[in-house]
Amino acid sequence: MAKVFVTGGAGYIGSHVVKALGEKGYEVLTYDNLVTGHPEAVLYGGLVIGDLLDTRRLHEALSEFQPAAVMHFAAHIVVPESVAQPLKYYVNNVQGSLSLLSAMAECGVSKLIFSSTAAVYGVPEHVPVQEDAPLQPINPYGHSKAVVEQVLRDMSAAKGMDYVSLRYFNVAGAARDGKIGEGKEDATHLVTLATRAAAGRRPSLSVFGTDYPTPDGTCIRDYIHVEDLAEAHVLSLEYLLAGGQSEIFNCGYGKGYSVLEVIEAAKKVADVDFTVKYEGRRLGDPPLLVADSQKIRGRLGWTPVSDDLERIVESAWRWEQKRATSKW
Ligand SMILES: NC(=O)c1ccc[n+]([C@@H]2O[C@H](COP(=O)([O-])OP(=O)(O)OC[C@H]3O[C@@H](n4cnc5c(N)ncnc54)[C@H](O)[C@@H]3O)[C@@H](O)[C@H]2O)c1
Repeated sequence: MAKVFVTGGAGYIGSHVVKALGEKGYEVLTYDNLVTGHPEAVLYGGLVIGDLLDTRRLHEALSEFQPAAVMHFAAHIVVPESVAQPLKYYVNNVQGSLSLLSAMAECGVSKLIFSSTAAVYGVPEHVPVQEDAPLQPINPYGHSKAVVEQVLRDMSAAKGMDYVSLRYFNVAGAARDGKIGEGKEDATHLVTLATRAAAGRRPSLSVFGTDYPTPDGTCIRDYIHVEDLAEAHVLSLEYLLAGGQSEIFNCGYGKGYSVLEVIEAAKKVADVDFTVKYEGRRLGDPPLLVADSQKIRGRLGWTPVSDDLERIVESAWRWEQKRATSKW
């Protein structure tokens, strides 16, 4: 089976993709500086502890492993932090990606799967949003990903590489077998925060904005189970290895749930009535963000199996309970 080099494979999404690749028999090597990742999360293949910006170490790891393709998850991901510290985001996400692309070019590796984000669309004019919608990011995090996508377009046009850019919507949940899940203590995503509030690890959960033009006044997002997203990566890899051309795909279910619906699901699944605080709107939250995912379903035959809010929340809840007794 082909070899795959995975940056950020010790992180939340990367570790689930490493697991999916390992289960299918791919040979995997994770490259991660563990700034937010956990070595225990890497269930398959080796782990090189290194930074994207350590060009020598990165080059050594790539040239020794000689992968058929690279999957690039390593990045900083917290939107408000990117607003407060833009340079940190441009250095890690843009410069880090340039460092990776240079090392790939030097080592003759020309296939890449890139972790992009719905944040590149900013506040979309039409929802469900399609891949050809204008890119109008509204924060440095989104800009950093849009810049890398532009670099990839240019490199692909120059015939140097073939890539798939996956624009994730709201990734949530944990491995259905309970082995791994979100390990960041300071995670900022709603499903994780709600299950941690239910587990008593947080005193309450805050809802930001209750006066949006949505049926219950709270923001609506497209939550995608992390294992369905992992499968999208495996399919993208198979597509590129079969000679597929560069492509961009949205990754979401095409169905939105409000913040209150997620909270209700968490309370029901955990059977705990945790405290919810209602606060003002945050800057830059679009009211409605839902993917049009027809393209990835049609082109790659992606068929999600956990397309259900309660199932997503259940997996996250199971993981939170296990995490209470695990090292990470
Ligand atoms: N979580 C989401 O909902 C979401 C949504 C859209 C896009 N994404 C993208 O998915 C990717 C993974 O996100 P995640 O939620 O798993 O985050 P994460 O923080 O759990 O994982 C990122 C991993 O990259 C590593 N890393 C960061 N900078 C590095 C560097 N300079 N060198 C080496 N390793 C480095 C971290 O240690 C960590 O293991 C990111 O690129 C993110 O932008 C995530």
